Amino acid sequence: MILGILKESGNEKRIALLPESVATLIKMMVTVYVEKGAGNDSFAFDADYEAIGAKILTKEEVIGQSDILIKVNPPTEAELAQMKEKTVLLAVLNPFFNKDLIYRLVQKDITSFSLDVIPRTSRAQSMDILSSMATVAGYKAVLTAANSLPKFFPMFMTAAGTITPAKVLILGAGVAGLQAIATSRKLGAVVEVFDVRAAVKEEVVGLGGKFVEVEGAVDDKTAGGYAVEQGEDFKKRQAEAVHNHAVKSDVVICTAQIPGKKAPVLLKKETVESMKPGSVIIDLAASTGGNCELTRNDETIFHSGVRIIGNSNLAVDMPTDASKMFGKNVINFLKLMISPKGEFKLNWEDDIVKGTCVTHNKEVVHERVKAAINP
Ligand code: NAI
Repeated sequence: MILGILKESGNEKRIALLPESVATLIKMMVTVYVEKGAGNDSFAFDADYEAIGAKILTKEEVIGQSDILIKVNPPTEAELAQMKEKTVLLAVLNPFFNKDLIYRLVQKDITSFSLDVIPRTSRAQSMDILSSMATVAGYKAVLTAANSLPKFFPMFMTAAGTITPAKVLILGAGVAGLQAIATSRKLGAVVEVFDVRAAVKEEVVGLGGKFVEVEGAVDDKTAGGYAVEQGEDFKKRQAEAVHNHAVKSDVVICTAQIPGKKAPVLLKKETVESMKPGSVIIDLAASTGGNCELTRNDETIFHSGVRIIGNSNLAVDMPTDASKMFGKNVINFLKLMISPKGEFKLNWEDDIVKGTCVTHNKEVVHERVKAAINP
C-alpha cells in the first residue's frame, strides 16, 4: 500500500506528516511518497524524509501512484483533477461549508475522510485534530495580542511607577479559549471569561480566570458537550454583559463557535466603539463569520483605534509543532485502517471510521454533512 503526502498551497506552512510520523508508518510496512519540498515551511526537508525511507516525487507522481493521499487542507481543483478513482483522501475538508468540493469528490469516486468531523468521543481524543489546532491557535492568539498591544501584559512595580496588568476578556472556553486563559495568565494578565456552557466554569477558575455568568443559557445535554444556539432574550442580556466587560478590557480573544453553524455575534460595533483605543481583538471565529460584528476574515482592520485581527488559522504560524500534533493525530486515526503489517482495511463497524467518512462509492455517506449541504 502506498501513502502519499502532498505539499500545501497558498500561505499554508504546515505539512500533514513530519518525518517522525512517517517513520511510524514505515515501521508499519507502508510505502510513503512525499511531494518534493512539501515539508520545507515546517523545517522538515526532503533529505529528512529520504533518510527514514520515504521517496520524494513530483506532485503528479505522488497523486498518480498513491492509494491514500494526505493533506492538511482540501485538495485544489488541479489536484482533484489528477486523482484516480477510489483514491482514499484524508484532509480537513470543512464539509459543512464546502458543498462544491464534496460533490466533486462524489463525482470522482474518492473515499474521503474529513479529519475535522472525527467524533468527539474519549476513544477518538488522540485523533482530535480540532483540539490540537485549537490548542496552538489559543496560545498563538495570546502571543499575537501581546505583540500588538501598546502595553505590558504583566503587572510591574518599577522605579518609574507601577504598571497595572492587562485585562483580557475571552469569549468561549472550549479548547482554544482554555489555552488562551492559561497563556494569558502565564503572561500575568487578569482574565475574564464568558461561555454558555456552565460545565466549563470549574476549568476556567482552575486556570486562574474569572467566569462571568449570564443566567438562562440553553445547555442542551443532547448536543454532545457542545454549545447550541441561544434564544433572543439571552443574546440580548449576554451582549449587554459582554459590552460592560469589553469596554474595560485591553484584549478580547474570540473563540465562541457552534459546530456546523455561523459563529455567534457577541461583540457589537457599538461595543468596539466604546473600547479603549489601542485595544486588540483577536477573532479566531473569523472563518465562520466572527464573534465580532466588524471582523473581516483573514484581515486586520482598525476601527475607532481598536485593532481587529480576523484569523481562524493561527496554527499556520507555528508550523513545526502544529504539524507534529496534526501528524500524531493522523497516525492514530490511520491505525484504525492499517494493520501493523501494512494491510489496509476500512472497517465500517468502527464508529470513528464511519463517523469521519464523508464520501464513499460515489455517495455522501455522512448524515450530518448530507443534511447540511442538501437540506
Ligand atoms: P468550539 O470551538 O465548538 O466552541 C468554543 C466554545 O465557544 C465552547 O466552549 C462553546 O460553549 C462556546 N460558545 C458557543 N456559543 C457561545 C456563546 N454564544 N457565548 C459564549 N460562548 C459560546 O468548542 P471546542 O473547543 O471544539 O470544544 C467544545 C467541547 O467539546 C469541549 O469542552 C468538550 O466538551 C468537547 N470536546 C470533546 C473532545 C473529545 O472528547 N474528544 C475533544 C474536544 C472537545
